[in-house]
Amino acid sequence: MRLDRFVSQAAGISRRQARILIQRGRIHVDGDTVKDFARHVGAGERVERGGESLELPRPVYLMLNKPCGLLSATTDSHQPTVMTRLPEALAARVHLVGRLDKETSGLLLLTDDGAWSHRVTSPNHQCAKTYLAELAEPLVADAEERLRQGLMLRSEKSVTRPAELTRLDATHVRLSVMEGRYHQVRRMFAALGNRVLALHRERIGGLVLDPSLQPGDWRHLTATECEAVLMCEIID
Ligand code: URA
Repeated sequence: MRLDRFVSQAAGISRRQARILIQRGRIHVDGDTVKDFARHVGAGERVERGGESLELPRPVYLMLNKPCGLLSATTDSHQPTVMTRLPEALAARVHLVGRLDKETSGLLLLTDDGAWSHRVTSPNHQCAKTYLAELAEPLVADAEERLRQGLMLRSEKSVTRPAELTRLDATHVRLSVMEGRYHQVRRMFAALGNRVLALHRERIGGLVLDPSLQPGDWRHLTATECEAVLMCEIID
């Protein structure tokens, strides 16, 4: 990580303030004064300010039960975003790990750990995402087979990866998909001649949305849950 970013995060100050401190010679790395704010800070290096060690805050990992009606975005000038559900200091720190449509509810992840979010969202990690969908019509009889074989969605160049469908009743289904194309689930059911009336994400990889979280509520993930999300098939 660059020195100015490190100092900014560890001291809880802006990047600009961090650069000023560095250029004034107030920051030491392994005992040496460093004035180059773009310098890389290595894993074992000790960064100090006024003789005191600066430590990066521990990364945060959150699950939010997204309610319908909020945008999955960090900021928006017209509509409320999911960030309005978090305390301000936390909202300023984290980013979204994938997105849900405005009218989709359920499991949404947020973190300030870029490497972790990359692993969760990378197309090379096939993390199954499981959704409950309410459909406008009863599903066609061969839906399972067509979803398993892959569907060609409008204006796409390749068929979808195999998806698993479970019928709960005539118009309620559970669907697990291995990718995250734009409006994927809604478009898959449209390709089957149907329409999604309500969509809710209940699981990513091995992590299930906490049933005690009310819509709009959030909590920190446990260490076990952070690992469980990554229970995916890795594609080389
Ligand atoms: N698929 C969709 O169509 N919408 C979502 O929000 C998530 C998956």
